[in-house]
Amino acid sequence: MRESDSRIVLGLHRSRYERRILTGALDLGITAIDTSFNYRGFTAHTTLADVAGDLLPRFTLSTKVGFFPTAGRAEHSLDPARLRAALDRTNRDLRCVPDLVLLHNPERSLPAYTTANRDALGRACAALATAAQAGLCGAWGISSWDPRPLPCLVDATLPRPAVLMVRAGLLAGIDVLAASEALADQWGLTPDQVWGMSPFGGDPTDPVWGRLDPRVFISDADNALAALQAAFRTAFRLPEVGRIAVGTDKPSHLRELIDALRYEPDVGRLRSYRQLLRERAGRQAD
Ligand SMILES: NC(=O)c1ccc[n+]([C@@H]2O[C@H](COP(=O)([O-])OP(=O)(O)OC[C@H]3O[C@@H](n4cnc5c(N)ncnc54)[C@H](OP(=O)(O)O)[C@@H]3O)[C@@H](O)[C@H]2O)c1
Repeated sequence: MRESDSRIVLGLHRSRYERRILTGALDLGITAIDTSFNYRGFTAHTTLADVAGDLLPRFTLSTKVGFFPTAGRAEHSLDPARLRAALDRTNRDLRCVPDLVLLHNPERSLPAYTTANRDALGRACAALATAAQAGLCGAWGISSWDPRPLPCLVDATLPRPAVLMVRAGLLAGIDVLAASEALADQWGLTPDQVWGMSPFGGDPTDPVWGRLDPRVFISDADNALAALQAAFRTAFRLPEVGRIAVGTDKPSHLRELIDALRYEPDVGRLRSYRQLLRERAGRQAD
């Protein structure tokens, strides 16, 4: 069994929820998993408890609330009563207290700045903070796929999350990176409290990975380093995050991701890459 490395969180969004990937992760020293109330058609929590209930105490477990089943589809809501009910249900279904609960994609119900939207975000955050105080989760945070509408809704009255989870990596987009960094600044979060997600944009077979070689962004790249490993390592600096939630059902892939951690991103080249993205975004806005 390897020494544990907290920089990788095994994300279960696309997972088959097989026990073998969880035992494989533990063998490799990966002890954090991330799931959600709505994953696996709203059955992720019960499946985890059934398949690997005995293993859960060995993991740090994060999950998310914000999507609810309604008439055969998922509906987003920031209603504090629904969030609290989802937290109660999460505790029952997992048969344990999650270490972290994230407010899931709050931007889905807050597309623009209005006073009402600012208040709705405040109430939703307060509902999670209260639930944490009541022992329904160890801590609370926010996970946002598209944080662009959020910075203008955050002010000093809003409870401060312990963790912010945002998209990370070469495909995240300059405006998403900027909004993520603005949020982390507003809440005074350290890089350790900012988690990246989806370093391959969910699809490592996307043709973009054949056209862009991420190894140019690694300062000590050698022949052993594969392009996807370089993309993964680079994501820790776009934006600067302490850990990354990445999905895989294959222990061999997880091992490759762990091996990638020994390489160092080239900060200067990444700065130039961001500058290029900014200039391109500026031209598109003209
Ligand atoms: N809004 C939100 O809160 C939100 C949204 C999206 C994601 N997330 C979090 O981020 C996690 C990861 O996101 P994601 O699964 O969408 O995207 P991802 O991590 O970018 O991509 C996952 C895909 O990468 C493949 N992969 C992983 N390691 C690989 C390797 N070494 N070589 C080749 N392929 C590899 C996996 O396939 P194999 O199974 O074949 O390895 C899987 O299909 C989620 O599970 C969730 O925890 C959160």
